[in-house]
Amino acid sequence: MYKELFVLIREHYQTDGFIPLHAPCFDDLEKQYLNQCIDSTFVSSVGEFVGEFEQQVASFTGAKHAIAVVNGTMGLFLALKTVGVENNDLVLTQSLTFVATANAISMLGANPVFLDVDQKTLGLCPQVLADFLATQTYQQSGKTYHQQTKQLISACVPMHTLGFALEIDKIVAICKQYNIKVVEDAAESLGSFYQQQHTGTFAEFGIFSFNGNKILTTGGGGILVTNNDQLAKQAKHLSTTAKIPHQWLFEHDEIAYNLRMPNLNAALGVAQMRKLDEFLIKKHQLAKKYQNCAAKSLKKGGVFKAKTGQSPNYWLNTLVLDSVEQRDLFLAQAQTQQIQARPLWTPLHQLDIYKHEIQTLMPNTQWLFERLVNIPSGVA
Ligand SMILES: Cc1ncc(COP(=O)(O)O)c(C=O)c1O
Repeated sequence: MYKELFVLIREHYQTDGFIPLHAPCFDDLEKQYLNQCIDSTFVSSVGEFVGEFEQQVASFTGAKHAIAVVNGTMGLFLALKTVGVENNDLVLTQSLTFVATANAISMLGANPVFLDVDQKTLGLCPQVLADFLATQTYQQSGKTYHQQTKQLISACVPMHTLGFALEIDKIVAICKQYNIKVVEDAAESLGSFYQQQHTGTFAEFGIFSFNGNKILTTGGGGILVTNNDQLAKQAKHLSTTAKIPHQWLFEHDEIAYNLRMPNLNAALGVAQMRKLDEFLIKKHQLAKKYQNCAAKSLKKGGVFKAKTGQSPNYWLNTLVLDSVEQRDLFLAQAQTQQIQARPLWTPLHQLDIYKHEIQTLMPNTQWLFERLVNIPSGVA
């Protein structure tokens, strides 16, 4: 039934072997920079590549500051800590996201509140957010609290799913009315724009992940971006054990963290960033192929397409199938073809670890979870 699509995938990747969802793409440049880094002996977080990588990401995204860290999860943690999230706070987020989004909130001793997403963007739904804030919270001394639990709602973490931008301008505007800080989980969306502005640059902070399955990789790694000088300074300070700069003394003014990206990882990142434009072109070409094929050979559903204002990086192309039965049939057939395909994450409000948290109704999250399947999307 999905034969044409499987043929397309095999022809595109030109292999008879296993086809992964998203493999990294390296050439001699990565090896050259890694060797250079090893020769320099600066393999930990002090070294030239870290600064250069931060410069590249800041310039590509148009953000004023970029702070490279060990991974995206800790990037979220650091951003939330820096904007002031504390123990027992509530942090609003979407249920349809990778578990790291909620874990970063939990690591601060705060509780995630799970809201439904919008079917057209796959990201946090502005209307659901506005309704939740209007009906379930109260304001006191300029801050917003949850009516039932009396917990402070200090932040909101919307996520740009699979590289498709959500309506971040609306989310930021709503949160501003309630004095709630916004951290964009842009882990999957390097190279994705919303109304011509790069994702991750609309709010207090945006974070990107450079895990091995992302559009570009540093092995493991992440980065925070912000246009706020003070927040940038504070985040960097917290990421480096809050050491007071001094030529030889070790003095620290807070109990803080060791979260800086090592130079070795940044060396990989500098090489990968040089190819980001080329990666994006290739990913757009593959997305076009999938769209054409789906239009011809899938009777119903098709490939998830960008909506007005969204300019995706096509990190992962995703099929929208008719039902959970069709989804599972597709996944089983892909497996027999040695083609890796994956459903979306089990919605976080359904996991035992998070099912007791405050949550809205989830019709869109459930609808998407039952129908969407990610298909191979790496750069060939
Ligand atoms: C939406 C989302 N948030 C956070 C992360 C965490 O990033 P990392 O794996 O670099 O810790 C990822 C990716 O892994 C992700 O997809």
